[in-house]
Amino acid sequence: MFYLPNTPMKTFKHKTILLTGASSGIGEAMAFQLNDPTSTLLLTARSTEKLNAMKHQLEKEGVHVETFPFDLSTPGAAGELHQQIEEAGFAPDVLINNAGFGIRGRFEDASAEELENMLTLNVTNLVSLTRHCLPHMLDSGDAGILNVASTGAYQPVPFFASYAASKTFVLFFSEALYDEYAGRGITVTCLSPGSTRTNFHDRADSPRKIFGPQESAEKVARVGLEALLNGKRARISGIQNMISSYLGYFAPRMVSTAVGKYLFSPEKPAH
Ligand SMILES: NC(=O)c1ccc[n+]([C@@H]2O[C@H](COP(=O)([O-])OP(=O)(O)OC[C@H]3O[C@@H](n4cnc5c(N)ncnc54)[C@H](OP(=O)(O)O)[C@@H]3O)[C@@H](O)[C@H]2O)c1
Repeated sequence: MFYLPNTPMKTFKHKTILLTGASSGIGEAMAFQLNDPTSTLLLTARSTEKLNAMKHQLEKEGVHVETFPFDLSTPGAAGELHQQIEEAGFAPDVLINNAGFGIRGRFEDASAEELENMLTLNVTNLVSLTRHCLPHMLDSGDAGILNVASTGAYQPVPFFASYAASKTFVLFFSEALYDEYAGRGITVTCLSPGSTRTNFHDRADSPRKIFGPQESAEKVARVGLEALLNGKRARISGIQNMISSYLGYFAPRMVSTAVGKYLFSPEKPAH
């Protein structure tokens, strides 16, 4: 059939939820919003101490939490992480691919290794983790995937070229899977945040204010989790971000690229 309606999950109750990038920013906010005593939270990121502190805090609220400290920027890491999760006796019904980072600046100023690490985290391991989690999700028939892209996904962005293109991959990959799994018990949602108050900008050295005020990680997390529960295909957080993304998407490429070149110029300070 050409189009099959997608049945949303409707609830996180009694679900096993795997969340990447759980140690800060949007991921951390999502973890605290997913604090349901009937669900199991599997939290992963590199910062072991931060994950343990979150586990301690969430367990006080009666949530079952397991932590899996992992660096997902190396090839094969998603498979190893999934194997550890399986060996610990868990099978995620919900996968939130949130971990990611960006590198702003002239393309020649980032090393090939930094770029490879970013693309492995933002793209390769996102696909691989999704693939590893899929068989159980198909068996469960009431599953969901939330992939975190960016408003940068909607147009090419000079001086943020590889990062923005990695997020275009996430957006198009997610939207394609949404239709591929429609009617098969898995919804796939893509969340695109605009500028959000997290550690992202320090690591990326990118300007915080682009269009209007920054959003809080808590607001963006809520928008993403609601979109996932409602089985939405793609959701941009915030009206201003929605308008700027669609303008960038529908404008002629040479126009949207010129705007991006101005906004993300390395001469512009990050703060
Ligand atoms: N903030 C924004 O303005 C903005 C805008 C658009 C899209 N986004 C996207 O939103 C997502 C979340 O970012 P955020 O804003 O919440 O930034 P953040 O506070 O820097 O959080 C990034 C998360 O990813 C994890 N991470 C980073 N490198 C990793 C690695 N090599 N292996 C495993 N985990 C790693 C970090 O944990 P550890 O450091 O402990 O590993 C952290 O938990 C990212 O995909 C980002 O691209 C953010």
